[in-house]
Amino acid sequence: MPEVIVALDVEEGNEALKLVRELKGKVDYFKIGSRIFTAEGPALIEKINRLGCSVFLDLKFHDIPATVAGSVRAACSLGVRMMTLHTTGGVEMMKAAVREVEKKFKKFSAKRPLLVGVTVLTSISREDLEIISPARDEISDIVLRLATKAKEAGLDGIVSSALETERIRKEFGKDFVIVTPGIRPSGYNSTDDQKRVATPKSAAKAGSNFLVIGRPVYGASSPALAVDGILRELKE
Ligand code: C5P
Repeated sequence: MPEVIVALDVEEGNEALKLVRELKGKVDYFKIGSRIFTAEGPALIEKINRLGCSVFLDLKFHDIPATVAGSVRAACSLGVRMMTLHTTGGVEMMKAAVREVEKKFKKFSAKRPLLVGVTVLTSISREDLEIISPARDEISDIVLRLATKAKEAGLDGIVSSALETERIRKEFGKDFVIVTPGIRPSGYNSTDDQKRVATPKSAAKAGSNFLVIGRPVYGASSPALAVDGILRELKE
C-alpha cells in the first residue's frame, strides 16, 4: 500500500501545524511546497520534525547545475526525507544534485533524503504542452523519456501522474520511487486545476509508492475524516 503524504499548501505556519497535529497518527508524512516554505522558511520543517513527522520538501529546483547543487546542499541540512527537482533541468543538473546528497550521506543511511524528479506536472494536459513540445508526443512518452534521464542521472525516482505510473513501474522495476500527485478520492467532486487525476485506489494499483494529496484533505470540513476515507479506500 502506498504511503499518503498530505500537502500543506496553506496560508501560514499555524494553520499547517494545526493540520499536522490533527492528522498525526493517521498520516505522518507532510509536504512543504513553495507556498508555505516562502512564508515560513526552514523553521516550519523543524517544528514538523519535532512533532515526530516526516517532511517532503517540494521546491522543484530548476536552475543551472551549480545553483541547484547549492540548494540541494542546503536542503540536506534541513532534515527532510525527500525533495524534488525538475528533470527538465537536464542530466548535468540532476547529477550535480545527486553528488551533493552523496557527499553528505552514506548510501544506505536512514537519514539520506530521496531525490525525485518532477516529469510533467499533473496540471498539464497534452494541449498545454504544445508550447514546448509541438511534435504531439504523448505525455506518457515524454514522462518515460524524462524518467529515463532521471534514472541515468542517479535520482531515486520521479513524480508523475497515476496515468503514467504503470508504464514507469514496468520499465524501471520495483525499486524506482514513484510519487503521485493529482489524487482525487471518490466522492471529491472537483479536479481543481489538476488535469491528469486518479483515485487513490487506481494510483495504488498502478504501483505508486507515495500519494500526494492536498485540497481533498486540507479543504475538507474535517481533514481527519477525509484522511480516514482515503485510507479506507486504499485498504479495500
Ligand atoms: O491539492 P492537490 O491535491 O491538487 O495538491 C497536489 C500537490 O502536489 C500540490 O502541492 C502540488 O504543488 C504538488 N504537485 C503536483 N504535481 C506535480 C508535482 C507536485 O500537483 N507534478
